[in-house]
Amino acid sequence: MTGYEFVSHAEIDNREWLLESLASLNELTFGHYDGVVASSPAFMEWYTARPGMDPTLCQAGLTGDSLVSSLFVTLARMRLDKELLVCGIVDTVMTHPDHRRRGLARGLLDRAIAGMREAGADLSLLYTAVADPPAVPQRLYEGLGYSTCELVDRFVKPPPHARECEPAVRVMPHVEVRREFETRLGGRSGWLALDDALWAWRRIDHPSDYTVEVYRTPDDTLAAICTGRLLSGGRPRSFAVMSDLAPRGGRITADAIWSLLCAAPDDATATVLCPRSDISLAHALEAAGYRAAGTEAAMLLPLSEAAKEQAASRSSPWYVAVESIVGV
Ligand SMILES: CC(C)(COP(=O)(O)OP(=O)(O)OC[C@H]1O[C@@H](n2cnc3c(N)ncnc32)[C@H](O)[C@@H]1OP(=O)(O)O)[C@@H](O)C(=O)NCCC(=O)NCCS
Repeated sequence: MTGYEFVSHAEIDNREWLLESLASLNELTFGHYDGVVASSPAFMEWYTARPGMDPTLCQAGLTGDSLVSSLFVTLARMRLDKELLVCGIVDTVMTHPDHRRRGLARGLLDRAIAGMREAGADLSLLYTAVADPPAVPQRLYEGLGYSTCELVDRFVKPPPHARECEPAVRVMPHVEVRREFETRLGGRSGWLALDDALWAWRRIDHPSDYTVEVYRTPDDTLAAICTGRLLSGGRPRSFAVMSDLAPRGGRITADAIWSLLCAAPDDATATVLCPRSDISLAHALEAAGYRAAGTEAAMLLPLSEAAKEQAASRSSPWYVAVESIVGV
């Protein structure tokens, strides 16, 4: 491929230029995707500080003095059925519309996969939108050996959410709360080992563009709610993404969803990502007025025997790391 140079993000000295270029390419490629949080250089500053994100594995395609293709790779300890394995999470795979179908994304993914193998990763994970027939990204990932291990439905509820109910209460993100999330969700496949750094990045050091709070419902379901305003097509729009829904006893109720909605801004479009196998969550969301609006596939590429075995025998439910899909 002539006219293009592949480099890792670590090889780009001018960090300010890198963050600006990533933010504008991200806006151009994902700006029209419903439910994806808009990015600014401040958002990119926060996102690239994600614990485990490795700039030597993150890849960029350059032409002249422009960044026209990129992807991120984060190394994390992830549960896959019975084991915690080293996983290379790939996200924000993007190519400028004027430079597509020239093998840039494939070239960057080849380099990323080689780098993850070298770094000792057991597997790689990514999320992509599902369509019938499969769209370019899904075909690209399948061609590289990724296969779907869980479908994840995006449930949305337009405003308003007003209803007579007892709102969930905000709780401070203390270490005890973190442990409660670990106890309730840590046995699920896809769960990322929650150390101090990941907890602080997700729940405390959020970017200036939006807020992230932890809530507890009257029936003791814990959840995180991320709220902010997007400028979409010049029109301000309010969003609320609920994640890490963790009921005390396994089954979530519609009342818990209503209590969380009552705590969210009344003009926000509310979103929850629901693994297809989590039937009780899907029922609770539907009973609270949410509707499915698109599906993502969690795709795995096993790189070690341990990962192949655990992927083949998986029986545990799935946990969605929401930051790799909508960026919050
Ligand atoms: C998905 C995306 C990153 C692909 O980027 P890209 O650089 O065009 O990808 P590639 O060129 O490596 O491959 C894309 C297609 O071009 C084809 N292609 C590659 N080189 C080609 C060439 N020289 N001539 C013709 N086609 C070519 C590939 O075979 C592939 O097509 P296929 O799926 O039908 O096999 C890009 O379309 C994009 O940014 N989309 C919007 C953001 C997005 O959805 N990202 C994925 C999130 S999961």
